[in-house]
Amino acid sequence: MSDIRSRHVDELNEAEATAELADLAQALSQANKAYHTQDAPDLSDADYDSLKRRNAAIEARFPQLKRSDSPSEQVGGPLAEGFGKIVHEVRMLSLGNAFDEADVQEFDARIRKYLGLGSEDKLHYTAEPKIDGLSLSLRYENGTLVYAATRGDGATGENVTANARMIASIPQQLDGAPDVLEVRGEVYMSHADFAALNARQEQAGAKTFANPRNAAAGSLRQLDANITKARPLEFFAYAWGALSAPLAGTQMKAITRLAELGFSTNPLTKLCDGPQALMENYAQIEAQRATLGYDIDGVVYKVDDLALQARLGFRSTTPRWAIAHKFAAELAWTRLEAIEIQVGRTGALSPVARLHPVTVGGVVVSNATLHNEDYIVGHDAKGQPIRDGKDIREGDWVQIYRAGDVIPKIADVDLSKRPKDAEPYDFPTTCPKCDSLAVREEGDAVRRCTGGLICPAQAVEKLKHFVSRGAFDIDGLGAKQVEAFYFDEMLSIKEPADIFTLRARDAAQLGKLKNRDGWGDKSAGNLFDAIDEKRKIPLNRVIFALGLRHVGDSASNLLANHYISWSAFEQAMRAAEPHEGPAWDELNAIDGVGGVMAGSVIDAFAQPAERAAIDRLVVELDIQDMPQRDTSSSPVAGQTVVFSGTLEKMTRAEAKARAEALGAKVSGSVSAKTDLLIAGPGAGSKAKKAAELGVETIDEDGWLALIGAAG
Ligand code: IVH
Repeated sequence: MSDIRSRHVDELNEAEATAELADLAQALSQANKAYHTQDAPDLSDADYDSLKRRNAAIEARFPQLKRSDSPSEQVGGPLAEGFGKIVHEVRMLSLGNAFDEADVQEFDARIRKYLGLGSEDKLHYTAEPKIDGLSLSLRYENGTLVYAATRGDGATGENVTANARMIASIPQQLDGAPDVLEVRGEVYMSHADFAALNARQEQAGAKTFANPRNAAAGSLRQLDANITKARPLEFFAYAWGALSAPLAGTQMKAITRLAELGFSTNPLTKLCDGPQALMENYAQIEAQRATLGYDIDGVVYKVDDLALQARLGFRSTTPRWAIAHKFAAELAWTRLEAIEIQVGRTGALSPVARLHPVTVGGVVVSNATLHNEDYIVGHDAKGQPIRDGKDIREGDWVQIYRAGDVIPKIADVDLSKRPKDAEPYDFPTTCPKCDSLAVREEGDAVRRCTGGLICPAQAVEKLKHFVSRGAFDIDGLGAKQVEAFYFDEMLSIKEPADIFTLRARDAAQLGKLKNRDGWGDKSAGNLFDAIDEKRKIPLNRVIFALGLRHVGDSASNLLANHYISWSAFEQAMRAAEPHEGPAWDELNAIDGVGGVMAGSVIDAFAQPAERAAIDRLVVELDIQDMPQRDTSSSPVAGQTVVFSGTLEKMTRAEAKARAEALGAKVSGSVSAKTDLLIAGPGAGSKAKKAAELGVETIDEDGWLALIGAAG
């Protein structure tokens, strides 16, 4: 990082050291908070580590200046509000770091000295990948999962039990475990699941995650556990907290025992007989890093003999018997050759950095994302500086950062190498593809082309989305082909409806397509057949395929399952156009549909050109109604129910969804039309009103018993 003090610690006087320790405490506390509490790190791991090392070095030289809030005594960040708190019976610790072979040698030497072992005495270590996720403690009593807690500040964590229960690789029940067993490990998200989640988030207009770790943390720490349920999280067990009986005599055997109890443990865990074996194993794991499918940021070494671990014990925040050997950051410097603007399906202007190709962590990188215009200028949406407020210009010497599968980013700019004639980047205010005005609405970080379907870039991206996997998924008509057809003069596809008229238009031109390069009689015929096959298509796919802003896969399902048929959906969207009235209210009352999404769907239907294109498409299709739910055996079908007060066994959203799935109508207020009130603690005025109106009132357990899901 550029503002890391360049002066050697030995050159500092006491006043300078005091000032710098105060700065470091502030910077590290801010970084901890961003990383642990807000799941949005503002420093790279490497920068964070160097600040910590600098702090430790100054403290070592001036022990008398060590602050009471010294960052070296802190693990994690302050707790986020909203979760219950759990005091860890055994503190959750952090690990000391090693960065090179000398550090590993020193780790071994320190342990031998502490234990009084000679250099000829055997000392084994386990070595396993350091998973880049977030740690979780699972407490089992008599074989049953009783709670799950995050690390928090090490002493107290957040109660995320409901969320942890949603993770498939966390057993709820154990067979043959000690009466009390706290299993500790890492929750993480694979690269593939991370990429798919971000794609879904983007489609839904929701925030995307910077890396798999943030995605895992953001997914686990959800007040609504249903969100966690929809996120593919995984868990590796690698340690334990409180125990009523030992698991085994060695680390390796304890891990095997955890695997036998049903936990996932890391298959790369290995026993090594000293620093040299550790270094060889480190090189092997580093070589596999890119192909593991999940992020790791180092290798953790632990003394294998648990009796020795017990003798070694802990320093204030780290065990003496373990260390994390970190990988070097995946960073490299190169020249930013040009800034280009890509135009997306919804018109978003996305700046992309074209780089002089450079190898970062074993991969050649020639593009990096620049996010949006604020990012280029050097501040975030709230006006806070990024990269210390340095802007990015064409010709700049930039530092590229890459982690896992994540699109490379620009971490820093070297102003000393900025060409004299470099100009601040002038973000276009017209679309580079169609010249329409590009506007940035208040509160939106993104500038958008207003050209709609007349913008070729938007039209092509929309078509690509239309034929994509979750949408029409037409064999032989992928992104490349639709783009070619878009610019084809004789057989052009300018909008989705044109796909379905392709066969007839081709026939009218006496089979033009089969004479094209890359096409023959058979492939052209196959394409027409594949297109015809998709005329019959369920409603949810059609809604998704339209590619409306904020309407991704799950929103499309919600809308389709609510309106069941195309005609009902379309009529409702038209009726809701004034953004008020019963149709608008109905749309907004669908669980999971917010005002922004509702507005976006309705505006698309209200926009004449878009509306006409939809109409032209629909006549080509045979849209299938969604299957109606069978609620014939439901005790609450057709009833109007109201939930009030605190629910303890499920969230409000879950209760509402279950009731609706059983054919009930869920209302927010009690009236003469209410059939049933489910009142939890604190139901207050609604319970009173129900009593006045003679509405039947039951508690949460009564409700669960009624719908047959109690216990
Ligand atoms: S052992 C008492 N093993 O790294 C030591 N930690 O920087 C307990 N981590 O808080 C931790 N992979 O969240 C251990 N294989 C592994 C790990 C691992 C990732 C995390 C863990 C810990 C942090 C320390």
